Amino acid sequence: MKSPIAVVVLAAGASTRMRSAVPKVLHPLAGWPMLRHVLESVMRLKPARMVGVVSPGAKAVAAAFAPHPTVVQRRPLGTGDAAKAALTALEGHDGPVLVVYADTPLITTATLRRLVEACDRAKAAVGVLGFQASDPSPYGRLIVRNGGLDRIVESKEADEAERRIDFCNSGVMCLQGTLMARLLGAIRSANAKGEFYLTDAVAVARAAGHRALAVEGDEAEFQGVNSRLELARAERTLQQRLRLAAMEAGVTLIDPESVWLSADTRLAADVTVEPNVRFGPGVTVASNAEIKAFCDLEGVRIGKGARVGPFARIRPGSEVADDVHIGNFVELKATRMGRGAKANHLAYLGDSDIGAASNIGAGTIAVNYDGYGKHRTVIGAEAFIGSNSSLVAPVRVGKGANVAAGSVITEDVPPKALALGRARQVIKKGRAGPLRAKLKARAAEAKRTRQK
Ligand code: UD1
Ligand code: MG
Repeated sequence: MKSPIAVVVLAAGASTRMRSAVPKVLHPLAGWPMLRHVLESVMRLKPARMVGVVSPGAKAVAAAFAPHPTVVQRRPLGTGDAAKAALTALEGHDGPVLVVYADTPLITTATLRRLVEACDRAKAAVGVLGFQASDPSPYGRLIVRNGGLDRIVESKEADEAERRIDFCNSGVMCLQGTLMARLLGAIRSANAKGEFYLTDAVAVARAAGHRALAVEGDEAEFQGVNSRLELARAERTLQQRLRLAAMEAGVTLIDPESVWLSADTRLAADVTVEPNVRFGPGVTVASNAEIKAFCDLEGVRIGKGARVGPFARIRPGSEVADDVHIGNFVELKATRMGRGAKANHLAYLGDSDIGAASNIGAGTIAVNYDGYGKHRTVIGAEAFIGSNSSLVAPVRVGKGANVAAGSVITEDVPPKALALGRARQVIKKGRAGPLRAKLKARAAEAKRTRQK
């Protein structure tokens, strides 16, 4: 591409069909707000400028655009008006301007680049991305003549013949920066919706003798999200894409359909993922690690050869070093496990630091919360924590120390020490029988009293 490009992302439309207090473009998709997917795709084009168009008072949406600037479209008068709102932010820019919708999150950088390059080659004033729609009814139709794009007809204005066209407008448009203000300025709102249609930029450009074109892309990339149903559909498409990319990168997904990934999940080659695993945002897994069935992982780095699950939950801020074993019903939160450490069954380890090669017994709890604040548990290397122990934080267990099973540890344990924090066992010989007889008599007496 010769001249630097600018990008405008339209996000000022009403989103009533989601029936949500949360703005549509902030609903999550593969672990990210929808808007972020669009931003990532456009930013890979390295635009010289990028500006978001938001509605008045949409603070959360503007914040999601940060560090990129936003402009406010005062009233939702249509996509053409929204693009016009961005003009002040584009002053002095004379390269191509790409206009994309924030609610079309599956668009890829490669497709956007194809449009910009085609416009550049053909010296077109306007270009749009089109697609063969399986159901064209909600879309604007592309009227192509002699290989060029003549105009776009919105569904509501289309006559019968036009409605039969299934080559549709994705909404992505590339305008020549030097002409953009003039083209948008000539758009009128005398139409079915009384709105300024950005799509009319095509007819305006053609009337002024400029060229316009349509570049075809794949329908799956242009799925818009206007409702919960469409959100679920977009999620499914995106998950398929992410699963495929993971497998192509050398990851074994035993049952791909049941593995849910985030857009930023990083799985190295020769990682194995068993069925029914969810990767929330911020997970990195190194080679040869194994994630067994039914795990829920978020915000964690997992080292080489580690084994996690089945049924493990790892929450943000955690680090699992190489060769660690985390077994069933173990929960980690903001916890670091050193190389080769093991927590094989039933444990809650929150705000903890666990040294290399330590063994955490079944039923161990890091008691990290006192009702007001969180405190850390620090366990040295090669320590052994016996089953059913509570480590009442803040507390430290030294290197090579042993904590006896069933202990409640409230004081620091020095390195190599043995700590017992439990009541001493008492044996009373032959007393089981008399005790049972006494309890049985008491129960019978209670039953008689009830019957009276
Ligand atoms: C638009 C296109 C249509 C295309 C379809 C693809 C127009 C006139 N029509 O229709 O040809 O097939 O997208 O999905 O452009 N927005 C604003 N301000 C406004 C209105 C909209 O910022 O005043 C934003 C919305 O937030 C959204 C995008 O523009 O991100 C598209 O708006 P929407 O109302 O969904 O357009 P469609 O009617 O779907
Ligand atoms: Mg739409």
